[in-house]
Amino acid sequence: MNSSDNAPEGVRPRPVVDRLPKYAAGKAPAVIEGLTSYKLSSNENPLPPIPAVLQAIADQSDINRYPDPLSTKLRTALAEFLGIPADDVVTGAGSLGALNQILSTFAGQNHDGKADEVIYAWRSFEAYPICVGLSGAEGVQIPLLSDGRHDLEAMAAAVTVRTKVILLCTPNNPTGPVLTAEETERFIQSVPAGVVVVIDEAYQEFVRDQDAVDGIKLYRKYPNVVVLRTFSKAHGLAGLRVGYSVSGPDLTQHLRVAATPFAVSQIAERAAITSLENFDQVVARVQSLVDERDRVTAGLRELGWLVPQAQGNFVWLNLGENSAEFAALAGERALSVRAFGNEGVRVSIGEVEANTRFLELCASYTKAPQAS
Ligand SMILES: Cc1ncc(COP(=O)(O)O)c(C=O)c1O
Repeated sequence: MNSSDNAPEGVRPRPVVDRLPKYAAGKAPAVIEGLTSYKLSSNENPLPPIPAVLQAIADQSDINRYPDPLSTKLRTALAEFLGIPADDVVTGAGSLGALNQILSTFAGQNHDGKADEVIYAWRSFEAYPICVGLSGAEGVQIPLLSDGRHDLEAMAAAVTVRTKVILLCTPNNPTGPVLTAEETERFIQSVPAGVVVVIDEAYQEFVRDQDAVDGIKLYRKYPNVVVLRTFSKAHGLAGLRVGYSVSGPDLTQHLRVAATPFAVSQIAERAAITSLENFDQVVARVQSLVDERDRVTAGLRELGWLVPQAQGNFVWLNLGENSAEFAALAGERALSVRAFGNEGVRVSIGEVEANTRFLELCASYTKAPQAS
């Protein structure tokens, strides 16, 4: 018999689990004869890791052993790379692992049964509601502005005594714009120092806007700021699950208590270190994707399409109720893109041919996206 809601006995999850949205991972593209299929639905790096990383992975033979639970070598490499103390780095299974650690450390249910609040912009990264919900805290979603940017004023106004964590996503997934350095600092100054401000910079290496925030600069100044970064996007290591947070000792002393032991495998650690050691090659690859992103964005604007600032490895089409139709048409061209309900479609920057095919589809599609 299947488990069911009306079964009087048996195993039941915590009530929140039934209420959580399901994470919908990007779909694989359809196979269509005569067409190469491309997956543009998960904001992955379409390029494989650099050769030295593949070699380092192949050379790793000590996997009968547990990894170093503190990822000491990776934290040391990151410390040098970022010019910060190694103690300020906390690694995780992807930046999602690092985010879960932050949430389980600073937000949840209290003894009086009241939930803490976690504020974030919406729409944003779709794992946020799930991670926040599982932590036991209550998510407070603040609608984006019509150009896909965070409404920082409304976010600051939403802070209550129960607010424990605020998530900022820059560039925002799925809409694309960055937060500026100036507005972010003003925002941090406007919220109580006891609220943890997370700056999720999963796509930081793709940012070219000179005014964009650099979370590392802000963490140096504000002890309640924690920055999230990852090897999944620019470094092309999404499948290995390695990311990290950066914050001062006020936060890290508690974060380490909530760490999942052995979250980063030695293969992932070695791959990440090797990628950092060859960062010039990573930069060259990222630049090729940035060039493609800019080509795609310019192409869309030439068609008269309204596209928000795109600073990650994806573009956002505010197609509203036409989102599913557009995604289906892309599928007919062996492109998988990501439709979010009746809001819009996010298209990851992929191989040159994939991007060109996407632009061709847009040229033939008459219902251009509007402002939100
Ligand atoms: C904004 C944002 N943060 C975090 C992540 C998670 O990345 P990972 O856990 O692979 O580091 C993603 C992935 O898509 C993302 O878009």
